[in-house]
Formats: sequence, structure tokens, C-alpha cells
Amino acid sequence: MTLTRCGIVSLFIILAVSPTPFSQSIIQISPEKKGAHLRRNEISGQRRGVDLYCESWKFTVETNDAGIWSQVPERCVDFVKDYITGQRYLSESEAVTDSALAYAKTVEVSGNGKDAWVFDVDETLLSNVPYYNDHGFGSEIFDEHSFNEWVNLAESPGLPASVRLYKKLQELGFTIFVLTGRSEFQRNVTGNNLLYAGYSNWETLLLRGDSDQGKLASVFKSEKRKELEGEGYIIHGNSGDQWSDLIGFAVGRRSFKLPNPLYVVP
Ligand SMILES: *[C@@H]1O[C@H](CO)[C@@H](O)[C@H](O)[C@H]1NC(C)=O
Ligand SMILES: [Mg+2]
Repeated sequence: MTLTRCGIVSLFIILAVSPTPFSQSIIQISPEKKGAHLRRNEISGQRRGVDLYCESWKFTVETNDAGIWSQVPERCVDFVKDYITGQRYLSESEAVTDSALAYAKTVEVSGNGKDAWVFDVDETLLSNVPYYNDHGFGSEIFDEHSFNEWVNLAESPGLPASVRLYKKLQELGFTIFVLTGRSEFQRNVTGNNLLYAGYSNWETLLLRGDSDQGKLASVFKSEKRKELEGEGYIIHGNSGDQWSDLIGFAVGRRSFKLPNPLYVVP
């Protein structure tokens, strides 16, 4: 008997598509176990679904794709709580500091005191997580009155990654400017809080004066940075948790965005 060319090909196809005797038994689970297995999977699947949704939401916040929003979405409040009180927030801010320092070390500091670095205050140098812990982790509409009471305590801890960056930049010879959307009436408590949190020897603490009230943070901060440039400072780096800290004009040579899924300031 001879196989035709066509017959050999047909034989190969039949062998290739016929199921192996094992394929059935591998996926077979007893009906009882199958139920428990599915329920567990459904629950962890739902959780994974929420985490995935909230991870993606956080991505849009950090990239400024989300634009202006006023409250953390209801389904992401636990996610934000776990993030901001856990290792991930600390780790991500340390990663930002690593990037900032890697860059800072490449800057040739002139020694004339004009090599500047600008820092924001809230959620940059200082952390208000204890306040947001008592106010729904960003799920409540911002309440200026209760926040200002918290500011008056001057007890905000320093963000560890920023304490490290701040001190290292001073060692490298940078002049530090602190530029905040807080108002002049909060100068003393803000200064005290910065000292309490381990910061010292900043060049100037810049706050909103009367004529700055009502300005967008991005406008107010750009104007202040422009003034610094006018005084001959070179802004090598700018660190902030809000895009409004970093955009506009006189933005500096490099920006370093810290994470903040709690709130947005335009
Ligand atoms: C805040 O005011 C007190 C009392 O006038 C003063 O002793 C302190 O040095 C001030 N703090 C800062 C940081 O300026
Ligand atoms: Mg801030």
C-alpha cells in the first residue's frame, strides 16, 4: 500500500487536531469544589476589578489627564486609603527623590548662591495625611475652615523622601525656595511646621499676599518663579505634588511630580 502525498497531509491534520486523552482530566474539577473555587475567584476577581479601576483612575490623576475633580470616586476611597497610608506612597515618593537627586548631581553649582530649587509645601515638604485620615481620604469636599485649623497646629510631619531631598540639595549647594499656595496669615505656623518637620535654612518662604488671592495656583506660582528669575536665580528643579506647581511659565529646568491621589488644586 502506498500513501499518496495528499493522504500523508490528511493524516498529519487528523493527528494534530485530535484531543489528547489528558486534556479532559486536567480541567475537570468535582462540582462541589468547582462552586467554592468560583466563589473565591469571583470575590478576588471583584477586588482585582476595583483595584484595576482605581489604579487606572490614579494614573489619570497623576498624568493630569483627569483634569479638575473634587472628590475621590466612592469606589476608590479604600484604595486611596491603603495607598496613602501604606508603603507604596512612601516608595513612590522615594523614587521621585532618587530621580531628582540623580539630576541634581549633574548640575554644576556655581557657588554664587543663584542655583535654586523650588519646593511646594502641602503633600510635598509636609504631609497632611493625618488630616485626610480624619476627613475621608479625599472623599469629602475640601473644607477650608477645618483644614486651616489643622494648619494652625503646625504638626504636619515631613514627607520622608522630601526631607532627604531637601537636605541633600543643601549639601550640594542649592538655594532653597519654599513656594506655597497658603496665605500670608499662615506664615508663622507654616515656618514653625517646616522647622518641626526637620527643614531649615530656606532662603525665602513665599506665600499668597492680598493681591494674590483668587489667582489660580498655577498663575500665582509662575509669577513668583518669574520674580526669582528676575533676581538672577536659575531654577534648576521644581518639586510639587500638583501639576499647578509645575506648569505655567518660568517652570525651571526640571520638574519633579510627587504622587497625590487625595485632591487636585488648579
Ligand atoms: C513665629 O512667631 C513666634 C512668636 O513671635 C516666633 O518666636 C517664631 O520664631 C516665629 N516662627 C517663625 C518660623 O518665624
Ligand atoms: Mg502641594
